[in-house]
Amino acid sequence: MLRKCLLYLAYLLPLGGLAQHIDPETIKDKMQWYQDAKLGIFIHWGVYSVNGVDESWSFYNNKIPYPIYMQQLKGFTAAHYDPQAWADLIKASGARYAVLTTKHHDGVALWDTKLSDLNVAKRTPAGRDVVGPFFKALRADGIRCGAYFSLLDWSQPDYPGFRKDSSRYRIEDDYPRWDRYRRFCQGQIVELMDRFHPDLVWFDGDWEHSPEEWEAEHIRHLILSRNPQTVINGRLQGYGDYATPEQNIPVSRPAYPWWELCYTSNNNWGYHPDDTNFKTPAEVISVFADVIYNGGNLLLDIGPRADGTIPDEETHLLKELGRWTNAHQEAIFGTLPGIPQGHFFGPSTLSKDSATLYLFLPSKTYGQVLVKGLSNNIQDIRVVGTGQHLTHKIVGKISWSAVPGLVYIDVPATVLDEYMTVLALRLDGPVRLYKGQGGY
Ligand code: GLC
Repeated sequence: MLRKCLLYLAYLLPLGGLAQHIDPETIKDKMQWYQDAKLGIFIHWGVYSVNGVDESWSFYNNKIPYPIYMQQLKGFTAAHYDPQAWADLIKASGARYAVLTTKHHDGVALWDTKLSDLNVAKRTPAGRDVVGPFFKALRADGIRCGAYFSLLDWSQPDYPGFRKDSSRYRIEDDYPRWDRYRRFCQGQIVELMDRFHPDLVWFDGDWEHSPEEWEAEHIRHLILSRNPQTVINGRLQGYGDYATPEQNIPVSRPAYPWWELCYTSNNNWGYHPDDTNFKTPAEVISVFADVIYNGGNLLLDIGPRADGTIPDEETHLLKELGRWTNAHQEAIFGTLPGIPQGHFFGPSTLSKDSATLYLFLPSKTYGQVLVKGLSNNIQDIRVVGTGQHLTHKIVGKISWSAVPGLVYIDVPATVLDEYMTVLALRLDGPVRLYKGQGGY
């Protein structure tokens, strides 16, 4: 765990500004759809769902022996796998993209890779590629497709790492063997690109090796030479496009222009029947509002069962999330990060022209809602979910001072959304804020 934590630090730092090799200016255009998308659904599906154990880590951390882990191959049936139903549920959640684990650290590919027999088509009762049909269904629903791919592969005989206390060899001692692994790994990336044309490649596991060892720059080239528009997540040792804080919600706004919080529905990535600690729709929605307020995306994870069915709690969560996102689309998708803290006690976003300010009222706030230091005139205030118009008053405006008065908006309890109410303030132009310290 400690090792993982240290390695995490090592790869989070680069996107904090130290060793990031990509100049954000050069990728601005291709990042636009991603920046506007705000919500993605992450899917951890693999043989680990058969017994509901930790994905890959259960054998790496010696919780179960490797052969027992691999016996799960026999139980991966995908018998009720309905890719269109998955895509429709994702669409209903309001998400604009989805990311599927095409291969986790255990090395079991969800597609019929030509480079290894360790794939669900050859080695499990599913007997077929399950990536292609999902991407097809997503595309039919207008949802962008992401391929999660673990750079490290603890099953591949040429990969040095295996379990936390045993590895196969040291790269320094057998460089040709490491090079064989690299060719294999990069070959699978090329296969994924050529076969499935992902809009987004979501790498994981880069922490075990340096950019030079992975040939990270070359991997980026392999992807972009096939499709220059592909978005690449930040786990490519400084050669990705956006930061990926995991589970932990940033408190201050991340400095890097694009970031994505990957977040589990309960406490696990994959299917874990013993884990019933599901987040409520209200909790996920408040996290989501906070994330978009700070200019990020939320990648909310679900873990289907080995037969391809999705646990009811996750279906419920996605549907409720969808009820809220659909009613509040204009305040979410394609918006800009909100106004700095201190003006309003809650998350906010701005329309692209910055002339509409969206206020997300925490919990069931009603009564008088305060906005401080807003220099614009307000032309209209509307409850986004219902369309009702609200009144407001300006308090304490001093005629001879440029400092704006306090805005008190009257929010009756009757307009409240079950989860989070959003107000749209139409301003007389792009938002202008007073940031001073008072005085005259
Ligand atoms: C971590 C874990 C992995 C999980 C991923 C999701 O890197 O190693 O199990 O798939 O995070 O972000």
